[in-house]
Amino acid sequence: MSETAAILLAPAELTVVVPSFNERDNVPELAARLNRVLAGIAWEMIVVDDDSPDGTSAVTKELARRDPRVRCIRRVGRRGLAGACIEGMLASSAPVVAVMDADLQHDETILPAMLDHIRAGRDLVVASRNIDGGSKDEGLTPIRRAISDLGRRLSAMILKAPLSDPMSGFFMVRRELIEGIAPKLATSGFKILADIAASVPTTPSVAEVPYVFRERVHGESKLDAKVALDYLGFLIHKLSGGIVPLRFIFFALVGASGVLVHLAVLYVMLGTGLRFEWSQTVATLVAMTTNFLINNEITYRDARLRGTKLLVGLLLFYAVCSLGAFANVGVASWLYAGHAAWWLSGLAGALMGAVFNYAASSALVWRR
Ligand code: GDD
Ligand code: MN
Repeated sequence: MSETAAILLAPAELTVVVPSFNERDNVPELAARLNRVLAGIAWEMIVVDDDSPDGTSAVTKELARRDPRVRCIRRVGRRGLAGACIEGMLASSAPVVAVMDADLQHDETILPAMLDHIRAGRDLVVASRNIDGGSKDEGLTPIRRAISDLGRRLSAMILKAPLSDPMSGFFMVRRELIEGIAPKLATSGFKILADIAASVPTTPSVAEVPYVFRERVHGESKLDAKVALDYLGFLIHKLSGGIVPLRFIFFALVGASGVLVHLAVLYVMLGTGLRFEWSQTVATLVAMTTNFLINNEITYRDARLRGTKLLVGLLLFYAVCSLGAFANVGVASWLYAGHAAWWLSGLAGALMGAVFNYAASSALVWRR
């Protein structure tokens, strides 16, 4: 029997799901390495590519024509690491699925050891940088190190089982576990593992395998401030028991960042000698505009406005915020007149304004 026929006949035990965005130089090398390290294991690789401009999908499909264990899901009109991982896992019919990055930063040689843990009965195996034998946070810039430390502490509060590396994008899990919770998982950002470990109905049995996070050779990282904010919003959503909608949390976080923009602009304007009233007006307009643009990129990324719609949306947003300011001042004054403390009145007014702006923006500016 030829080798290809043998491959075709063996149903996979392990599906390696590989999310990719602009990784054309890395995917063929990863496939070659999997072929080496997974010898003797019935495996397949599913690359989930978000229509990368560099043609990663075409390169992957070319590979697939030579090796039936390679498949490519090309998603169009969508972006999101977590969503890509979920889709890849759900496309598998193997009992075990692994997720790993396409960029060769994850050490593929530990895959057999991870699979051994699953075979021995574990539900979830995490490749961890933060246990003995792992790279810890070496090689990370101080800011990335601080962010990953904060992420670790906050994540610990929502997980069903402790994980030393909850933001790892490298793990293996029984597929049946994912099938059950898939509709509950968030599809944006880099939070897939934490989300799984928080959403499983019962405490999973977990094993961790150390690895050294490698340097990236081709392409560049997509982890930026937007991804970090997305993660923070997700944690707050989970910590609130899912009561506060994720979108409102982003809206409020963006609003809070707008206060900083406002104060910075006010400071600069006053420095130019402009009268306070005018300085305050300019600061308000600038802050509303930046809020609008950031909300358009993050909070309402699924209904993102472009071109002339962006301009119309901005004008509508100004109008919504003006009404929101009335609601804010109205509620605050009413409470204050009823002898509520100044800070409570102010806070309630701000909250009222935020809720109004959020509801009106969702209904009028970014209609979905
Ligand atoms: N399909 C898809 N869609 N794939 C994506 C997207 C997306 O929107 N964004 C990133 N990817 C792919 C990349 O092509 C890569 O294969 C993998 O997801 C990880 O992205 P990187 O941009 O290389 O992330 P990193 O190396 O900076 O981040 C590492 O640390 C994070 C936090 O600890 C990775 O290990 C992450 O998995 C991890 O969450
Ligand atoms: Mn990477």
